[in-house]
Amino acid sequence: MNIQVGRDAELAESKRSMASGNYLSNAWYVAAWSDDVKEGQLLGRIILKEPVVIYRMEDGKIAALADRCAHRFAPLSMGKIVGRNRIQCPYHGLEYDTSGACMLQPHGTKNIPSRARVKSYPVIEKHKAIWIWMGDQPADESKVPNFSVLDNVPELYSTKRDGFTIKANVELIIDNLLDLSHTSYLHEGILGNAETVESDIGVDLDGSDVVVSRYAKSAKPPGMNKLMWPDVPDKVDKFTEMRWMAPSTLRLISGVCLPGSTKDSGSGYHAIHLLTPETDRTTHYFFTAVRFGVFSKGEELNRQIQQKIAETRRFAFEEQDAPVIEAQQRIIDDAVQPVNPVILAIDVGVVRYKQVLNRMIAAEQAS
Ligand code: FES
Ligand SMILES: [Fe+2]
Repeated sequence: MNIQVGRDAELAESKRSMASGNYLSNAWYVAAWSDDVKEGQLLGRIILKEPVVIYRMEDGKIAALADRCAHRFAPLSMGKIVGRNRIQCPYHGLEYDTSGACMLQPHGTKNIPSRARVKSYPVIEKHKAIWIWMGDQPADESKVPNFSVLDNVPELYSTKRDGFTIKANVELIIDNLLDLSHTSYLHEGILGNAETVESDIGVDLDGSDVVVSRYAKSAKPPGMNKLMWPDVPDKVDKFTEMRWMAPSTLRLISGVCLPGSTKDSGSGYHAIHLLTPETDRTTHYFFTAVRFGVFSKGEELNRQIQQKIAETRRFAFEEQDAPVIEAQQRIIDDAVQPVNPVILAIDVGVVRYKQVLNRMIAAEQAS
């Protein structure tokens, strides 16, 4: 189903959601890559404006508690793991179990007041990431977005599971990722070039997913694709298909193939973008990539390519996307009058996902 551009009502909705900082709470958000939560360590992280401490229990499973002691609000992430699964507060030694109940109060009569407990969050480890459920409705495991492309992949063909924080509202980053026309300008030479501007853009709704696809026929292969396909011809068909899955994860298939041939005969990668609001103006950005159609031969060359893809993408996101997105955020915040974007053909996907997301948020709040 193709979508038409530009409806004022949809844009009004999109402005409202970003300004108010409303989020879908009953959904899974990535709290960390699995690799980042080591046994015996406490990881403190703000998620949807709530301080959370994440840790790995003795049996390897993950737990997450509010990172705020019930006594004097010291961050539990500054404490330590004691016994098998308890966190000891760094300040006066209260100990909490994985349900958030206080199990030890070492002072006076040692009585444990009934209010001595902290919130415990449902967590699940899947697709090499730790997902957390921030809402009050029962956590639904079937709602973890599908990133099975990350499972059972040789490490040589997947890149570092990386991330950093962008100082902008999550929606500005989704806007960036669902509108890949910017690669021809902001990432010229490494992820796009002028010839890819003339792509055919398709926007489709697949269930509640929004899928934006671009196809450029007989285009020059971008630098990244030349690396992955050493004898790639001068002219190829280039394709990208970005899938947004509510509330804020995206999966991209990007590659090139011989002119007129099918995508799966070509070479490229699945790019994974996992966004988790930290605050209304900061977002955790986790990313990695998994190759398909590996035409490069030998472990040494493939290791170089693995390194190059990881470095190029980190450079593109950190040095090219983030500065522009953060500047957009400052300009929007500083504007004397509320801003209202001009909508172009390239914005159809962005308009569409905001409409879907805002409906979900409104339905959650109504219930
Ligand atoms: S603040 Fe945690 S025990 Fe006092
Ligand atoms: Fe970008």
